[in-house]
Amino acid sequence: RKKIIIDTDPGIDDAMAIFVALNSPEIEVIGLTTIYGNVYTTLATRNALHLLEVAERDDIPVAEGSHVTITKGTKLRIADFVHGSDGLGNQNFSPPKGKAIDQSAVAFLVEKVSQFPGEVTVVALGPLTNIALAIELDPEFPKKIGQIVLLGGSFFVNGNVNPAAEANIFGDPEAADIVFTCGADVLAVGLNVTHQVILTETDREKLAQSNGKFAQYLCKILGIYFSYHHEAYETRGVYLHDPAAFLAAVDPSLFTYTEGMVRVQTNGITRGMTILDNTKKRYGEITEWSDKPIVKVAVTVDAPAVVKMVMER
Ligand code: BDR
Ligand code: CA
Repeated sequence: RKKIIIDTDPGIDDAMAIFVALNSPEIEVIGLTTIYGNVYTTLATRNALHLLEVAERDDIPVAEGSHVTITKGTKLRIADFVHGSDGLGNQNFSPPKGKAIDQSAVAFLVEKVSQFPGEVTVVALGPLTNIALAIELDPEFPKKIGQIVLLGGSFFVNGNVNPAAEANIFGDPEAADIVFTCGADVLAVGLNVTHQVILTETDREKLAQSNGKFAQYLCKILGIYFSYHHEAYETRGVYLHDPAAFLAAVDPSLFTYTEGMVRVQTNGITRGMTILDNTKKRYGEITEWSDKPIVKVAVTVDAPAVVKMVMER
């Protein structure tokens, strides 16, 4: 079974992805690492521990990640207006009993890819600071990691922070550029596909009627996520960003991909924009980025199949 580390900023769709992962027999979750994004890192850690306790899987280690961006200078953008001030729909859950392990997320990531070379997939569901720091700490990290599957970017469509940038990339553009150009097997799932993967009000009602503990829990926290989407996007449903990205790691055939080089804009009003150059692949053209490694970017998705798997799991 594929070994998976989920790097996460829980977060309502992160919570869904974690539950889907824990109900995926094809893979083994060997740890969660935490990062700021939907909430600050301290709260992300607390939420990760809480979610594992809800799932009765507190045997899985949680390692706390960076509290600051890789350049340390960027003001954090916290998406509490999407996920609630607690990151989990303002439900006032009692604090988790467990604690994070006595090792940083970066040390944990480096240790695990070194222990199991080629076997670990990192599914990154928040800003990419921890992964970039792991690459800086261990230059062999990109060779040792099996794959990095990330929720990030908005290839050829508008972002969700602003027209240029998607939230996870905007959270730490310098880190994202390091990850996209590190030479590892990188697979990016962006808004261009996740905006087609929608959990509808009808699906939510089905979850409410189910007596599964995961469905029941998710119904408690989903309210604010639905009202945000209704207001911001006028959709009658919510985007399944993080669960969709996780499922790309489990079953890549749910998506189709293009291949090319991706760079991240770090300056000006388009800071956080992901720019994909797939001209070489398509036309054999050589551009100034041709020296950069090739990554995979999802371009189409079997949305009904993804939603079905999320519902089942
Ligand atoms: C991403 O940003 C976060 O709000 C979500 O959890 C997801 O990872 C979507 O842009
Ligand atoms: Ca997330």
